[in-house]
Amino acid sequence: MGVAALTRKGSPPRSDDHTTMLVRKIPDGSVIDHIAAGKALSILRLLGDPQENGYTIALVMNVSSSKMGRKDIIKVEGMEITPEQIQRLALIAPRASVNIVRSYRVVAKRNALPPRTVRGVLSCTAPTCVSVREKDSAPSIFFISGRSPLRYRCKYCGRELTEKEISSQLG
Ligand code: CTP
Ligand code: ZN
Repeated sequence: MGVAALTRKGSPPRSDDHTTMLVRKIPDGSVIDHIAAGKALSILRLLGDPQENGYTIALVMNVSSSKMGRKDIIKVEGMEITPEQIQRLALIAPRASVNIVRSYRVVAKRNALPPRTVRGVLSCTAPTCVSVREKDSAPSIFFISGRSPLRYRCKYCGRELTEKEISSQLG
């Protein structure tokens, strides 16, 4: 792993500018910003732990943000996050923005957009749901029912998953 920057409990609020001083700019790669505090490690796992494949990672965790209180940031040097990966990470970090960096410049900025329909990734929490009892004939399908906070509703039984449940299923 590259640099891990942590703020101490009780330290004074830090500005977004200060955040950029904690970790240097990257020449090429991806910066995932506006991740809700505490979710960075789940996102890394979802991206397939790029640090285990030789990529250098910088993690900034629990810094203050004017938009969202506290947030995490991930930088992956040399790896451009794909639109499919952005869709998947949107389930854990629905307000994240993904910046693609080339030659030190942000060349694309995409907001995570949680998909309207999620197939086969989430599990219904209702024990009597047909998607739980008969997984093979009734594969899980969820439709988005809220964006902030994020919520998904089971197609079969109507049970809603909260943002917290969604994150814990994927993390
Ligand atoms: N960044 C980086 N290396 C670069 C360029 C940008 O690590 N060579 C990081 C910045 O530090 C920031 C993020 O990528 O965390 C987005 O950069 P930029 O769009 O320049 O910042 P903001 O305008 O603050 O972004 P936003 O409006 O999304 O908050
Ligand atoms: Zn269900």
